[in-house]
Amino acid sequence: MIKKYIPVITIDGPTASGKGTVAQLVASKLGFHYLDSGALYRLVTLSAINNNVQLDNELELVILIKKLNYNFLGKEVYLNGVNVTTLIRNEKVSNNASKIAKFKNIRKELFKIQVKFRKFPGLVADGRDMGTTVFPDAFLKIFLTADIKQRTKRRYKQLMQKGFSVSMSDLLINLIKRDIRDKTRNLSPLKCPEQAHLLNTSKMNINQVVNQILDWYKYKKN
Ligand code: CDP
Repeated sequence: MIKKYIPVITIDGPTASGKGTVAQLVASKLGFHYLDSGALYRLVTLSAINNNVQLDNELELVILIKKLNYNFLGKEVYLNGVNVTTLIRNEKVSNNASKIAKFKNIRKELFKIQVKFRKFPGLVADGRDMGTTVFPDAFLKIFLTADIKQRTKRRYKQLMQKGFSVSMSDLLINLIKRDIRDKTRNLSPLKCPEQAHLLNTSKMNINQVVNQILDWYKYKKN
């Protein structure tokens, strides 16, 4: 049987570049499935915290992933039947997620989970290494950036809306540290994939970014 090509749009970029919101909207406009790969790293982190697993114990973390009982329902994320959509977005989870993301066997286990999201009629996947490692044959690759001040403001607003209290200066430091960790790790570091469309969203609103990606998709398809 000839395997049919399932199109994937990858949207990678640093924290608070807008990839999550943009990727969900692009997926819904095209009727595609959606993968929030960062949520998987966050779920592993939360599960480790809940189970008192040390965040530098690669072997225990891999065992945890093999038993991970999670579910994505629309925009909601569940861990062991509990809605953790907001909880996985707190700063403790964010910072630790980028620490466990450096481990080879963790990335290997999560890779197996991520590729299964590729289903008809297509997939929009967001993260750090979607275009470089997980879906290197993606139909369209996007890399979003925005200046650090803008990203800090966006993340601050998001966290406040979710009821978390953080200081803008702490947040800026966390974002910078996370950027450095994500860009400098040995495995699948955050970088713009070859042939990706680079989009600086500092001065763009969500709709402008979504429309630009849809235009690139339609142009390439026709
Ligand atoms: O939403 P935000 O960009 O802040 O983070 P996220 O996409 O939820 O990812 C959380 C962390 O998981 C990142 O800082 C990365 O260290 C890690 N991650 C990764 O290594 N590879 C991915 N494909 C996605 C996330």
